[in-house]
Amino acid sequence: MKKTLAILLAAILVLGCMSFASAEAKTYKVGVSIYQYTDNFMTLYRNEIENYFKTLETDDVKYEITMADGKNDMAEQTNQVRNFITQGMDVIILNLVQTSSADAVIDEIVAAGIPLVLINREPLAYDADGKTLDESYAGILDNPTVCYVGADARQSGTYQGEMIRDLDNKGDINGDGKVSYIMIEGDPENIDAQYRTEFSVKALTDAGIEVECLDDQVGNWDQTKGQELCANALSKYGDKVEVVFCNNDGMALGAETAIIAAGRKVGEDIYLVGVDALPEAIDLIKEGNMTGTVLNDHIGQSHAAVDVAVKLLNGEKIDNYYWVNYVKIDKAYAEANY
Ligand code: BGC
Repeated sequence: MKKTLAILLAAILVLGCMSFASAEAKTYKVGVSIYQYTDNFMTLYRNEIENYFKTLETDDVKYEITMADGKNDMAEQTNQVRNFITQGMDVIILNLVQTSSADAVIDEIVAAGIPLVLINREPLAYDADGKTLDESYAGILDNPTVCYVGADARQSGTYQGEMIRDLDNKGDINGDGKVSYIMIEGDPENIDAQYRTEFSVKALTDAGIEVECLDDQVGNWDQTKGQELCANALSKYGDKVEVVFCNNDGMALGAETAIIAAGRKVGEDIYLVGVDALPEAIDLIKEGNMTGTVLNDHIGQSHAAVDVAVKLLNGEKIDNYYWVNYVKIDKAYAEANY
C-alpha cells in the first residue's frame, strides 16, 4: 500500500513538472514565402533566416518555420499566404513574386490579424500615370504591423558605376572618348533592377564621362540567361564592348563564362561588374576575372527581418522601413576581407 502511494505521488510529481515545462515553452509559428527557390541570392537569404531564428531559441521560446517556394508564380504564392492564414501563423515573412500584388496580399494578412515583414522586393508608390514615386508605399505606412526590410538599390547601382569611373582609363579601353557598355537587367518589375540600371550609368555621366549603350536586355536575374545575352552581345558588337553591367552576380557569372568563350579577358579588354557578392563572384574578383561587385548584405537583411518579426511577436512597436547598406567590393577589398 505504502509502495503504491509512493509510485502514485512520484507519477503526480513527474506529470506536474511536465505540464509546468510545456506551459513555459512557447512555440511561435512563422510562415515564410520566397519568390523563387532557384534564385542564388534568395537561397543564401532564406537559409540565413532559418539559421538565425535557431540561434534565438531558448528553453522557453521556440520558432517553428514553414518555408514555401513561390515558384515565381503570384497565384501560387497567394495560395501559400492563404494557407499560412488558415494555419494560424503568428507572423509572416514575405518575398513577393509581384510587388504589384502587394495591396491585395497585405489586406488579407492584416485582416487576419497577422503581422507581416516584407523583404527584398519593395512595393512602390505610383502616380496616376504609372510613374514610380520616390515616396513610401501606403500599404506599408498605414499599417503598424507591416514593414519592409531591404536595401536602397540606388546605392548598389552607383557603386557599380563608381568602380568603372575609378579605373585608370575610366572604362574607356579603346580610347575613343566614350564608355561603350551592355546592360543585363533583372526582372524589370523589380525596383532593384530599375535603379541599378539607371544609377550605374548615372555614376559615369555624373563624372562627366560620355557613355554609349550598345545593348540593354532583360536577363531576369538568371545565370543561364545572363550568359546567353552576353554571348549574343559580344558576337554582335565584338571589341566595341568595354563594360558589361549586370544587375546581379547570378547574371554576371553567366556573362563571365561568355566573356571567356569569346576569348576576351576581364581587366585587359573588357570590364564586368555585378551585385550581391555571391561567393563565386568574390572568387572571380580575386582571380581577376570580374572587375567588382557590391555586397547585397543577406546576413544583415535576414537578421533585420527576423529581429523585427520577433518584435512583432512580442507586441512591440516597430518602424515601417528598415534599410541595410550595400558595400562596394573591388579586388583590393575582396583580397583584404574574404
Ligand atoms: C538581388 C538579386 C535577386 C533579387 C530577387 C536582388 O536584390 O540582387 O540577385 O535575384 O533581389 O528579388
